[in-house]
Parts: sequence; C-alpha cells; structure tokens
Amino acid sequence: MNLAVVLRGQTHDLALKNPVLTASGTFGYGLEYAPYGELKSLGGFVVKGISLTPRDGNPCPRVLETASGMLNSIGLQNDGAEDFCTRKLPLLPWRETAVIANMYACSVEEFARLAGRLDGEEGLAALEVNVSCPNVEQGGALFGQDARLAAAVTSAVRKAAPSKHIMVKLSPNVADIALIAKSVEEAGADSISCINTLLGMALDLRARRPALANVVGGLSGPAIKPVALRCVWQVARAVRIPVVGVGGIVTAVDALEFILAGASAVQVGTGNFMRPDCAFRLVERLPEACAEYGVASLDELRASLCCPTC
Ligand code: SIN
Repeated sequence: MNLAVVLRGQTHDLALKNPVLTASGTFGYGLEYAPYGELKSLGGFVVKGISLTPRDGNPCPRVLETASGMLNSIGLQNDGAEDFCTRKLPLLPWRETAVIANMYACSVEEFARLAGRLDGEEGLAALEVNVSCPNVEQGGALFGQDARLAAAVTSAVRKAAPSKHIMVKLSPNVADIALIAKSVEEAGADSISCINTLLGMALDLRARRPALANVVGGLSGPAIKPVALRCVWQVARAVRIPVVGVGGIVTAVDALEFILAGASAVQVGTGNFMRPDCAFRLVERLPEACAEYGVASLDELRASLCCPTC
C-alpha cells in the first residue's frame, strides 16, 4: 500500500514518504533515536524547539509521569539557532527524510528573525511554529490563545521564510481552536499541527508542594488522546490546509483514528519516551493495521467519518 503523503500548503507542499512524524521535544534532534530504528523509515521528524539564542529552560524537577501520561515544564531549553544550523543539522539524514525545525520566540519580531535564519537551511523541509508552549511566561501559549497574535506570528514567519513550508502548532488551551486555526490559515500557514500539551499540575502531598518546580506544566501522552482527536476533528472541518494530528498517538490504530478524524499526517510524541522504537514500530505496523480495518487508502479513510454532524 502506498503510504506517501503530500501536505498541500498554500505556498509550499511538504512531501512525506509516510504520514508518521515525531513530535518536537520527544525525539531530541533525531540522532539520539538512531540506535532504535532507521531514521529514514519515518515520514520525518520535528526536532526539539529552537530559539534564536540559547535558553536554559525551567528549574528541575520538570518532568513527571502521570496516569497514562506525562507532565513537562522544560521551558524550551536549547542551544540556539546557530548551534542547531552549524553543528546539529549537518549530521541529520535530511536528504532521506523530512527534517522539520520547531521554532519558538518571545515576540513577533524575534519569530521573524529566527525564521529568516532558518529559511536559508537546505536541510530543513519545513518550519513548525510553536505558538502553544504552556511553559514559558513570555509568549508561549499566549500567542496561540489570541487569534490576532497567532496570525501576526504566522504572517511574520511566512514573510521571513519564503522558501519553507510553514506548519503552525496550536494549543488546546483555548475556548475555540477552530477560530485560531482559521486565523493562521488566513495569515498564510501551509499546514496546522495540533495539539500541543494541556496545561496541568501535580502535587506532592507529603511535602505539600507542587511536584514541578514551575508549578504547572504540559500534559501529554495517551491521557490527552480524546482531547487531541476532538481538536483535530474541529480544526480539519474549519480549514482547507492539511492538519497534522498530535496527542497520545502510540499505535498504528491511534494514527488511523487521527486520519479518520481529518488529519493528513500524525506526530508521535510521548510514545517515544514509553518505547524509544515507538514511531519506528508504528510505521512498520501501519500497512497491517490498514488491512485489518479495511483501509484502502489514507485519503479514502480521511473522507469517511460517519457522524450525525459530519
Ligand atoms: C517545553 O520545552 O517547555 C515544551 C515545549 C512545548 O510544550 O511547546
């Protein structure tokens, strides 16, 4: 079965050999996972969030396992764009699979500068614009919670990176995700990935303190899959650009459910922490799962959801 997918953007398409990507912040810069599978077997991978200058992130503890999931408050720790472009990207198999840079900034102007820096990198197939990180005070989910700000970031990145496919990653921590999706589509996004993490909290009862140093963090993993499916379904009905589903995807059947909800591709996130070969296994098992569920093609599956309001 042909699993190749083209995310048809408004300005640039993104061709993937299959619909399975890995989610930013869960797969390092790719090479860390090379011992567990063939990187080139993936549709692509989204590297850990990159900012213009290095960031230390939030104080520890900043990761915690929860029921069927995980809370993180990393705070976008990274070595900055220059280090990524000169030291990390040249080592990645970008000729063989799509390497996507997840990018974060604290202002619209900084997003534009970062996009301009990344636009010149031949090894990047696309930029994923993070307007949805719940773990940083400045910017973060705020950009993604305000339709006008989300549009301003998208249009600044679109202008500053004319050669790249622009994917915008949305936050579920909003009243109406379809509204935000429409605003980034109008501002020039080529595709939308959703969802980033849900804002959560855990407590240490004995110490009578929050379990994370940052007090709150982003919840991910199978616990959030129903929320992610709902968001993908709402967004896919609201926009014409492709949607990439993220949130609790661990198995090939999960991936097919997201495609049925309207996604054109998926990202595996917390599953990579559960089993480092999770995304590789998912790719391997996809044809088998398609056969088992009578899926003739991914396009046919995406158009086939039967529900009272569809
Ligand atoms: C983080 O580094 O805090 C996580 C990134 C994100 O949720 O966007």
